Amino acid sequence: MEKNLTEEERLAQFSESLLDWYREHKRSFPWRDKNNAYYTWISEIMLQQTRAQAVIPYFERFIKALPDIKALASCRDDDLLKLWEGLGYYSRAGNLKKTAVIVTEKYGGSLPDTFEELLRLPGIGRYTAGAISSIAYGQPFPAVDGNVMRVVSRVLLNREDILNSRIKQHFEELLKKVMPEERPGDLNQAMMDLGAMICLPAREPDCPDCPVRDVCLTRETGLWKEIPARSAKKKRRIENRTVFIIQDGSRTAIRKRNKKGLFAGMYEFPNESGEFTREEALSYVEKNDLVPLYIEAGPESKHIFTHIEWHMKAYRIRVSADHADTGTLFFVDFSEQQDRYAVPSAFDTYKKYLSCHT
Ligand code: ADE
Repeated sequence: MEKNLTEEERLAQFSESLLDWYREHKRSFPWRDKNNAYYTWISEIMLQQTRAQAVIPYFERFIKALPDIKALASCRDDDLLKLWEGLGYYSRAGNLKKTAVIVTEKYGGSLPDTFEELLRLPGIGRYTAGAISSIAYGQPFPAVDGNVMRVVSRVLLNREDILNSRIKQHFEELLKKVMPEERPGDLNQAMMDLGAMICLPAREPDCPDCPVRDVCLTRETGLWKEIPARSAKKKRRIENRTVFIIQDGSRTAIRKRNKKGLFAGMYEFPNESGEFTREEALSYVEKNDLVPLYIEAGPESKHIFTHIEWHMKAYRIRVSADHADTGTLFFVDFSEQQDRYAVPSAFDTYKKYLSCHT
């Protein structure tokens, strides 16, 4: 191994070896090598929080329902949320639609092909603009996400905190200099594949099979556990909540969330902050102009967000069928009509529970 390379020289060698490897070992995905910027965009947004293998069925279902930008621009919000159900971070779906409307009105239905114009669209940051411009339009922009930060930190034996924006900018500048002229998107995707197949995040990387082992300073020193460096994460705040499964026979009460904020516009079982006693749960139901007949405890469940954990307790409450729809709650035959209502996966335990308690 040559020791005295500059960072740029090291990454230039890295890029060459990695591209050779990618031609033979790249993973096959339904959004790859299709020359379709819409596919690149949708897949990259889905891939931001979910593993590539898990994204495949969501991507295929989405493209089948909304095959192009114009279809996305005119899609009903409820249908879009339903297509996004299970992927989480639902504001991304709202931004997809906003961008689709802008692109339809301003760019005739094709995503713009410059990094700067892409960056101005809702939900498109430097990573996504880099991915679309390089993969779909062959322009030399890097797409630096957490996986790329890990791979590059290791190759360069860089011990700085990868959450530091200065270091991210430094890596972007270096990578920009070594992007290949032909198919620059291949280098970005090769780094993603290397990060997913060889240079793994939480486990020992497969250095013996690594195509860039000869230029990687971390492999030489064996310090993979220490790189990438990350400052200690803040602890998540715990929020206790109570979920109410209210049934008036075979129908269950749901409500629509606000247009803004967490899970905007999605549906949910009524739930409130705090740990309610049985008595409090019964008076909650009465306050909603319903007459409780029977109450039992339901399952407990946890849902982990980036900065918060919901610890949920539940009650199943049967109410008299003799009621008007209340202000915000309405009763639906949930198992029959599930395809109409997008419910966040935070409530998965209760969706399953309902399938055997109706
Ligand atoms: N992760 C993020 N973008 C990706 C892509 N285009 N291919 C594979 N994994 C990815």
